[in-house]
Amino acid sequence: MIWLNTAAAHASTFMPPQGTEIASQYDKLYGFIVIASLISCVLVIGGLVMFALKYKRKSENDKTAYITHDTRLEFAWSFIPFLIFMVVFVWGTYIYLELRTVPKNAFEVHVFGQKWNWDFMYKSGKKSTNEMVVPVNTPIKLIITSRDVLHSFYIPAFRVKQDAVPGRYTKLWFNADKVGDFQVFCAEYCGTNHSRMLAKVKVVSKDDFEKWLQDNPYKDLASADVGQKVYNAKCIACHQLVPEASTSIAPSFLGLFGKTRQFADSTSAQADENYIRESILNSKAKIVKRVSGEAFPPIMPAFAGALSEEELVGLIEYLKTLKE
Ligand code: CUA
Repeated sequence: MIWLNTAAAHASTFMPPQGTEIASQYDKLYGFIVIASLISCVLVIGGLVMFALKYKRKSENDKTAYITHDTRLEFAWSFIPFLIFMVVFVWGTYIYLELRTVPKNAFEVHVFGQKWNWDFMYKSGKKSTNEMVVPVNTPIKLIITSRDVLHSFYIPAFRVKQDAVPGRYTKLWFNADKVGDFQVFCAEYCGTNHSRMLAKVKVVSKDDFEKWLQDNPYKDLASADVGQKVYNAKCIACHQLVPEASTSIAPSFLGLFGKTRQFADSTSAQADENYIRESILNSKAKIVKRVSGEAFPPIMPAFAGALSEEELVGLIEYLKTLKE
């Protein structure tokens, strides 16, 4: 398992690191349930074995004692488990309410799931992909949705998880109390690259966060380098930089620029700037054929509105550098 970790956030033997105060509360309840279950298991199985040995029929003439019931014993074995369940219920409700009640002053971040990336949008207009930067010791409210199918935004270290549902906003909140990087998983099967739909939560100091918000990630970068950053964030899950293989789920980017592309409808075109722009913004306009002749599945989402002009130009320039 990839529990991204820092010195401040130690993982226990069975659980991921604790990145929030709730996580430690959650683990205490979980530990209580595990230990209570273990003790019950030992009592029940131990009693069973002990009685089986002690009251084993020893001769043909052994008779079963005539016992109908024992009120005190029956009360005890009903009431004690009842008490344990009530402890779990009240304790669990308390933590659940805390997990689901978003503090009023929470800092809001919009989260978009899309096959197979996580995009983040801040009120300042700042955007990021697969890396959510948040300030430490600040309640953060996530407003989550999906651009295609069901996904689920899961941060194990914070013990929080929420479905990303197309056409509706769901919410989640946390207050990270340790600086560091924490792994995000998609926890709802969403297709071929579900397991690679990974992101990171980067918890930073409040000062670093303000700096990051102001910072233009593409400042002083050449177009092709902007494109490489976009590629690593948004395209890498499907488009490889090695020659196409029978297992490829999307066309390789290696040597793509300038090549003649064969399409499913038997037309063809040269992969120039216009072709690439169209294929990014409206991916289903032209469906490319594999080397073997069948068409690739038309599974790429349209990126219209999700990329800036700077990023589009960057991708085009980056593709030009990928020579075979
Ligand atoms: Cu997105 Cu699984």
